[in-house]
Order: sequence, then C-alpha cells, then structure tokens
Amino acid sequence: PRLTRSYDQKVIEHFEKPKNVGSLDRNAPDVGVGLVGAPACGDVMKLAIRVDPTTGTIVESVFKTFGCGSAIASSSYATELIKGKRLEDAVKVTNRQIASELKLPPVKLHCSMLAEDAIRAAVSDYQKKQAQQVSQSATQA
Ligand code: FES
Ligand code: FES
Repeated sequence: PRLTRSYDQKVIEHFEKPKNVGSLDRNAPDVGVGLVGAPACGDVMKLAIRVDPTTGTIVESVFKTFGCGSAIASSSYATELIKGKRLEDAVKVTNRQIASELKLPPVKLHCSMLAEDAIRAAVSDYQKKQAQQVSQSATQA
C-alpha cells in the first residue's frame, strides 16, 4: 500500500495550511473558550468563538491544538464550518460529519471528536458567561 494515498487531499490541505489558528481574549464578554483533551491519546485542543449577542451567531472562530495532523485538520475545518452559524446549530456539528468530510481513517476518529467536544465546550462557556452577566445586571438593578 502506498502510504501517501491513505489521507484525503482535504485533510492534507487543512493540515498544511490550517485556517483560523489563534486565540481570543477569554475575558471578553462575547467570547467563549473550550479546552478539551482526548482520553485516547492525551492531546489537547482549545477552540474559541466570538458571538454576536444580538443574533446569537458565531462571527469568529479560532483554535490551537497540541494534536496530530488529523486534529489540526479537524479543527481547521470545524472553525470554518461553525463561522456564521447560530450557537444551537454549531453544537449540532458532529465528529462523524467532520471525519466523513475529511475522510479520516477509523483510528483517527477521536481526533475529530476533539473538535466536536471543543465546539460544545466553547459554546457552553459563552452561554455560562451570558447567564452570569444577566444575573449580575439583575442584582445591580
Ligand atoms: Fe497525539 Fe498522536 S497521539 S498526535
Ligand atoms: Fe490524538 Fe489525533 S488528536 S491522535
């Protein structure tokens, strides 16, 4: 078997030129950050979103990962996918969806799982922050 054939071109593109690498200010009120680890390999991924509070839409999405090539490709693709999505739609993105788009081999499914988990963690971090702001302004009123 030729090893170079085992990865799809799309993975290789996202791996070689990952989109949206970076981080956002975790203290900003419109930012949510998700930091997750993969039990299968110990790799870590951090994904941050910036949300337009009036529409509940993700306007910016960036990631960093200490993961393998598939994790880099998965998060690069995931950040592209959730940009412009409403929060409730972003959390519906599944690792299966990412893996099948990138044609990841079965042993690499946990890498795309990392991206799914990171999206959910970032969204819930943002929502927690929003809830705190609401309760704070309620007590100040
Ligand atoms: Fe994490 Fe391979 S086990 S990069
Ligand atoms: Fe662990 Fe890919 S994220 S091997």
